[in-house]
Amino acid sequence: MVTLTSHSPAETWALGEAWGRVATPGWVIGLTGDLGAGKTQLVKGIAAGLGSGARVHSPTFSLVNEYSGGRCRLFHLDLYRLETMDQIRSAGLEEYLFSPAGVTVIEWFDRWGAGELTAATPAAMGEAAGESLLPGADRAGEPATLAAGGAPPRQAHPGLRRVWLEVLSPTVRRIRYEDTGT
Ligand SMILES: Nc1ncnc2c1ncn2[C@@H]1O[C@H](COP(=O)(O)OP(=O)(O)OP(=O)(O)O)[C@@H](O)[C@H]1O
Ligand SMILES: [Mg+2]
Repeated sequence: MVTLTSHSPAETWALGEAWGRVATPGWVIGLTGDLGAGKTQLVKGIAAGLGSGARVHSPTFSLVNEYSGGRCRLFHLDLYRLETMDQIRSAGLEEYLFSPAGVTVIEWFDRWGAGELTAATPAAMGEAAGESLLPGADRAGEPATLAAGGAPPRQAHPGLRRVWLEVLSPTVRRIRYEDTGT
């Protein structure tokens, strides 16, 4: 886990921009943090790093925005208004997590729930044995899997990076993220 302090919106943007520059299709970035924590600010940087000039705004009502014009497509999800796994499923959002045809960034990722996340789409998870679990999943004390109905445990998406943003003051944010080694 990496912890850093952002002292301005520009610094948060720059972090996203750095990720966007190296991101490749299949990357999924899950953002967790309160209202105004800087999730969308980070996404703006990611879009810029991918080379997209699209205007980034929270897709709170449409659930997903798609930005093109960069090296690959960027899918921007916001789960704020979704409360259950069923809602997420019926909104057709799972493909963006498990097999995105581009880079996916998800605001209010905690709505998805780590356990439900891995149990939800076994078919899409691939059966590749030996793929390591998400870095940090154990250390964070969160269940990596939730094997309902006797199904074998499923692995989290190997391309997933979870990020937590915390408001420390009007301009300071603590940002923690999983170091996926990429
Ligand atoms: N260090 C910082 N990093 C990011 N944003 C900051 C920082 N300091 C101040 N801000 C301000 O905080 C706000 C962050 O807004 P943003 O829309 O990115 O939050 P959000 O987490 O997406 O909120 P929401 O849950 O409502 O979508 C902006 O107004 C931004 O200017
Ligand atoms: Mg937002």
